Amino acid sequence: MTKAAVAQETAEADPAGRSVAPNASVVTVGDLVREVAASLVAAGVALPALEARLIVGHGLRLDPARVFAYPERPVAAAPVGAVCDLAARRGHGEPLAYILGEREFWSLPIRVTPDVLIPRPETELIVETALALHGAEDGSPRILDIGSGSGCILLALLSELPAARGVGVDVSEAALRVARDNAHRLALAPRCDFVCCDWGSAVAGTFDLVVANPPYIDDAGFASLTPEIRAFEPTTALRGGPDGLDAFRAVGRDLRRLLGTGGCAVVEVGFGQARRVEILFAEAGLRTIRVSRDLAGHERCLTLAAI
Ligand SMILES: C[S@@+](CC[C@H](N)C(=O)[O-])C[C@H]1O[C@@H](n2cnc3c(N)ncnc32)[C@H](O)[C@@H]1O
Repeated sequence: MTKAAVAQETAEADPAGRSVAPNASVVTVGDLVREVAASLVAAGVALPALEARLIVGHGLRLDPARVFAYPERPVAAAPVGAVCDLAARRGHGEPLAYILGEREFWSLPIRVTPDVLIPRPETELIVETALALHGAEDGSPRILDIGSGSGCILLALLSELPAARGVGVDVSEAALRVARDNAHRLALAPRCDFVCCDWGSAVAGTFDLVVANPPYIDDAGFASLTPEIRAFEPTTALRGGPDGLDAFRAVGRDLRRLLGTGGCAVVEVGFGQARRVEILFAEAGLRTIRVSRDLAGHERCLTLAAI
């Protein structure tokens, strides 16, 4: 097919109104990357060149490294239309992870949909802190992940601790479906269960390790979130009530009962919340044995044990 023919076919297949309009020049991978990058610049996306390569790779089902290595590769009309649709979604503010359907967490590919929070790099601190408590040689710890979302924390821990088993709980059935799918994809499903319940209310027994990244954004913080987060990520994964601490109060009610002898909990907190969460957990019979800071130097994780 000639360049002109591809352009003709593309133009006919493409409804008006897309932010990237295929034209006669968009016939190679490199041209498409440039067109998408230009549309992302216009939309104010922070890393347009990088995101354009990822979007083009996803739309063309090409590894991003091949997008980079073979810019002269010709592209047929139908995939051009698919890439334009993806670029338009990004231009309208949808997070890249939802468009690609995946986000890396602890070097694992975690599938994400709009039903789950996109795993954040700072949450890897929970995994790092928990692994400092339980090494791979430490028997077969039982792990509970409260508010498991995509399952990223529990699955990262199971990937590092081959004898560990775990349970993830979440109030969202849709999120649990994503977590179960991730467990299957990562071949970790035989060692975990995902259960729908309100915090730890329906969980019986005790655990060696409890991890939680609860929703902790207060009302003022929610109002000032970027539209990319506020309009696209699930509200139940973000909002922690007027002062941001509702979920910690609720988790605190279950945590003491769920910790086995010698067990520890590792809980993520929001910016400036560490002291107040420590006090809440102390009232629930838990002492803070460590406060860990994230890469920005903010107090981000509390490690807790029974008083
Ligand atoms: C901040 S997200 C964390 C998700 C995941 N653990 C992560 O770190 O990416 C909080 C999670 O808590 C869940 N959640 C909210 N309210 C809950 C409740 N009452 N009981 C259990 N889970 C709840 C949300 O659905 C969401 O998946």
